[in-house]
Amino acid sequence: MTARKGPVTIREMTLEDAPAVSALADRLVGQDYYPPGLVRRYLERARTAIGTLSYVAERDGQLVGFRFVLPPGRWDEGRGSGLTPERWPGPLSEAGYFQSCFVDHAEMGRGIGRRLAERAFADLRRVGATLVVAHSWKESPHDSSRRYLKRLGFAAVAEHPRYWAEVDYLCGGCKQPDCVCTAIEMVKVLPPA
Ligand SMILES: CC(C)(COP(=O)(O)OP(=O)(O)OC[C@H]1O[C@@H](n2cnc3c(N)ncnc32)[C@H](O)[C@@H]1OP(=O)(O)O)[C@@H](O)C(=O)NCCC(=O)NCCS
Repeated sequence: MTARKGPVTIREMTLEDAPAVSALADRLVGQDYYPPGLVRRYLERARTAIGTLSYVAERDGQLVGFRFVLPPGRWDEGRGSGLTPERWPGPLSEAGYFQSCFVDHAEMGRGIGRRLAERAFADLRRVGATLVVAHSWKESPHDSSRRYLKRLGFAAVAEHPRYWAEVDYLCGGCKQPDCVCTAIEMVKVLPPA
């Protein structure tokens, strides 16, 4: 394993990042979860007047994590189907979506996920979001997904079994061709800046 050297920096994701984001996702979540074409489509949807609301974390020029975020009005479901807006503290029209966040195994638990989220919260507030919705991966390594979101102030509102079953990828968690993992729908209120 290469020794960590320089600091981790957070910046907006660009179209040029698509191959590296896709390769990191293949390794961290499962083969073909984020093919480069899909990364580019999410980046189109993440574009706003203040910039693109999706980010990468880099150390020494190497991608070590990423977060996709969709602004209000640019999403109405995640990768699967299963949303309960009637349990949310605000309307879909004011909700941003935390699409996915992955941090390299060797870098997990060092605050990179939190920095990616805090950048996203600040930008979402600037585009008028009052809440954020996410689908947490119940079977994530070390329960890191749910714990991460809970620590950031998200609360669970529903569970969706086999949420990713329709996504054509090989899940690194359950390793089933039709993913059997469960999503925990979680919501956070975004206080005004
Ligand atoms: C979830 C994830 C993105 C968080 O990023 P991170 O950089 O590791 O998280 P941070 O260091 O900012 O820590 C924030 C919180 O995440 C949780 N967490 C992070 N690493 C963890 C680990 N190894 N075990 C348990 N919880 C962990 C903790 O609750 C932590 O808060 P705390 O340290 O105050 O207890 C990252 O751990 C990851 O990629 N996990 C696997 C993939 C995944 O589940 N992605 C989310 C899909 S929705």
